[in-house]
Amino acid sequence: MSTTTADPSKTTAGATLQEQARRHLWMHFTPMGEYSDENEIPIIVRGDGCYVWDEHGKRYLDGLASLFCTQLGHGRSDLVRAGYEQSKELGFFSSWSYTHPRAIELATRIADLAPGDLNRVFFTNSGSESVETAIKLARQYHRLTGHPNKYKVVAREIAYHGTTFGALSATGLPGYREPFEPLTPGAVHVPGPNMYRLPEGHSPLEWAEAVAKRIEFEGPDTVAAVIMEPVQNAGGCLLPPEGYFDRVREICDEYDVLLISDETICAWGRLGDWFGSTALGYQPDVITTAKGITSAYAPMGCVIASDRIAAPFMEGGTTFLHGSTWGGHPVAAAIALANIDAFENEHVLEHVRENEPHFRAMLESLRELPIVGDVRGMGYFWAIELVKDRETKETFNAKESEVLLRGFLSTEMFERGLICRSDDRGDPVVQLAPPLIAGPEQFDEIHAVLRPVLEEAGRRMNVRD
Ligand SMILES: Cc1ncc(COP(=O)(O)O)c(C=O)c1O
Repeated sequence: MSTTTADPSKTTAGATLQEQARRHLWMHFTPMGEYSDENEIPIIVRGDGCYVWDEHGKRYLDGLASLFCTQLGHGRSDLVRAGYEQSKELGFFSSWSYTHPRAIELATRIADLAPGDLNRVFFTNSGSESVETAIKLARQYHRLTGHPNKYKVVAREIAYHGTTFGALSATGLPGYREPFEPLTPGAVHVPGPNMYRLPEGHSPLEWAEAVAKRIEFEGPDTVAAVIMEPVQNAGGCLLPPEGYFDRVREICDEYDVLLISDETICAWGRLGDWFGSTALGYQPDVITTAKGITSAYAPMGCVIASDRIAAPFMEGGTTFLHGSTWGGHPVAAAIALANIDAFENEHVLEHVRENEPHFRAMLESLRELPIVGDVRGMGYFWAIELVKDRETKETFNAKESEVLLRGFLSTEMFERGLICRSDDRGDPVVQLAPPLIAGPEQFDEIHAVLRPVLEEAGRRMNVRD
C-alpha cells in the first residue's frame, strides 16, 4: 500500500513515527490499544555499549540486554563490518543441498565449544525455531532407530520455549497456550524446581523424580524427549537444585529419552560459560540456542546434536526432513564468527565470572527491603522475587501483581532510565540480565534505580516489614 493514497484511513506521509507505529506496526506480545498521545510507544533509536537512547534523546541502561541478546553491547562496528564484508563476498546462499564457508566454519567452531560429543550443528533463525527443530529431530530420530511411537515431550510448568506450535506446546504457561488450542499433541508438563518455595519436608530431588513419574505415566515407549532450560527464565531465574540434572540425565538414559537443553538464553556467556549446561555440569543430547550467538547483530539460532543422535541421519540417503530458507545465512554466520572471536579476544567469559560476585552482592543488598523475598540467579542472569510478607513468603494475587508490575514498577524504572523486566508469568519478579560487558559502574546505576523504586513499591503495596 502507499502512504500517500487518497483513502482517509491511510496514514499521511507527514505522520510522526509515533503516529505511524500506532497505525501500522504490530508489536510482539504488546497490547497495542494501550498507546495514545499521552502514553507513547517507546521508540529506541540508537545504542552504544550498555546504553540505548530513545527518539527524544533520553538514555537508558539496557538492563535486559535487549531480551537477553546483546551480549557484547550496542554499537560494535567489528560485528557490523564482518556482516558487511560477507555481504560483499556472498550475500546469501541457502543451506538446502548447498552450503558456504561461513556455515561450515561456524558449525566447526560451535562443535568445538559445545560440551562432549555435541558435534553436529543445524542452523535456524530464532529460539522458537530451534526448539521446533529439536522436537522434530527427536521424533524422527526415534522413528529411524525403530521406536516410531516415541513422540511425546516432557517439559516444565511455567517454562517458556517459544511461540511456534511445537515450541508453544512445550511451553508451560496456560495463558500463552489457551488462545491457540488445540496445540501439537504430545507435550506434557511437570513442576520444575523452585528452591524458594520448596514445600516443607520435601526433598528438592522430588522435582527430578517427577520427570520419571511422568514418563512412566505416559508410557516410556511414547516419550521422545525432555526439554528444560539450565536456569529457567519464566518464573524468575529458577536454578536447579544440586543433583537435579544428574538425576534427569539418568532418567533420560534409563528410558531412552533425549535430553534437550534449551539454551536460547543460557548460552553465549549468560551464565559465565559458552553453554549453560557446561556452566552447570551436565551433558545434554541436544542444545537449542539463539539470541546471543550473534550478540543480536543478525538473527540466528542453532540446534547442536550429539554424534549419537545425528548418526542415523548421516547414513545412506537418510534426510532430516526439515529446514528453512534463511537457516545458516552467510551474513549471520560471519557475524556469529566475529562474535565468538570477540568473546575470546576480550575475555568476555572471564569478565562475567570476575564480575558476577559484584553483581550478586549489589542485588543481595536489596534483601534489606521488606518487598524482596528472594534474590537468585547466576552469571549475568538474575531475578528478585517480590512478596507481600517475607516471613510467610505470601505472594501478590493477580490483581495486585498487575498494579505492582505494570501499574508501577515497569513504568517507574523506565522513567528513571533502567530497562529491565517486571514479570509475573510465575510469582512476581524483577529480572536483570545486562550486556556481558557491564561492570561495577552499571551495577551501581542499576542499584541507584532499583532501591528507591522497590522501597516505594513496598510502601504502595502495604508490604509488611
Ligand atoms: C528458553 C527460551 N526458548 C525459546 C525462546 C524463543 O526464542 P525466540 O523468541 O527467538 O523465538 C525463548 C525466548 O525468549 C526462550 O527464552
